[in-house]
Amino acid sequence: MKQVTVSRKAHFNAAHRLFRKDWSDAKNQEVFDKCNNPFYHGHNYELIVSVTGTIDPETGYVMDMKILKDLIKIHVEDAFDHKNLNEQVPEFASLIPTAEHIAVVIWEKLRPKIHKEHDLSITLYETPRNFVQYSGPNLNQN
Ligand code: NI
Repeated sequence: MKQVTVSRKAHFNAAHRLFRKDWSDAKNQEVFDKCNNPFYHGHNYELIVSVTGTIDPETGYVMDMKILKDLIKIHVEDAFDHKNLNEQVPEFASLIPTAEHIAVVIWEKLRPKIHKEHDLSITLYETPRNFVQYSGPNLNQN
């Protein structure tokens, strides 16, 4: 079967602080450096949500991009945009809001909303040069 990937770009900006309460100030500063700023700092996150599957013979679509756009709006933009991730987003109450964790959280929020037979991949740019990708757990391992 022909597998085609369709992608939708989105954007949000948000503040975060990378630190561990169980580490000393010195260790947090050593490991997280500028991202440990106690007054927080912001990023312009660029998001790419990719869905891979076969083309529906009736519509010619893998999935309706309007539906994907709305899912991203509701579950990512409305939830994260202009928020302090540590303080205002429940998923990060006890999870360090690194780009890695944000990508996993986005995947976990969207995965139940995407057709079971479709693969989902999240690419998240924290800066124009730093980005992470998550496509779900490796089912061949634990
Ligand atoms: Ni940062």
